[in-house]
Amino acid sequence: MKKNILILSLSVFCFACGGSSSDSNTGGKASITDNPDFEKGLNLIVKSDCLGCHKTNEVSVGPAYNLIGKKYENTEANINTLAEKVQKGGSGNWGTVPMAAHTGISKEDAVAMVKYILLLKDEK
Ligand code: HEC
Repeated sequence: MKKNILILSLSVFCFACGGSSSDSNTGGKASITDNPDFEKGLNLIVKSDCLGCHKTNEVSVGPAYNLIGKKYENTEANINTLAEKVQKGGSGNWGTVPMAAHTGISKEDAVAMVKYILLLKDEK
């Protein structure tokens, strides 16, 4: 009986500590949502079927958008290549699951979508 009480009181000691302090410092730094490419691309993506296969920061059928943003540098050449991939579809860069082709999307719109995705590299 006495032993049980001892164990009980010991377990109370294990209770405390832990707990993390999250310092959310947003002061000063310009937000990526201020970039006009952000809203334009996001609007197009929401209207299309992209979100059926892609999430912003979680792997779904396709890679998470923030991982795509991390993988590719925000250059003209990369934007072009990725925009064409959105239009034509394909696989091989992230695995064997193919992305569907989007023949109804103009090059201009595909570019805007990719610009938005590449902005997400800074999102945690
Ligand atoms: C049917 C599911 C599906 C839909 C719908 C879809 N994707 Fe994808 N997407 C994928 C998969 C799977 C990959 C990974 C392809 C690979 O491995 O190369 C991918 C990859 C990508 C990539 C990275 C390409 C590369 O070569 O690294 C971009 C950018 C992208 N998608 C944008 C979009 C946009 C924008 C839309 C909406 C117009 C969209 N996706 C709709 C499944 C999808």
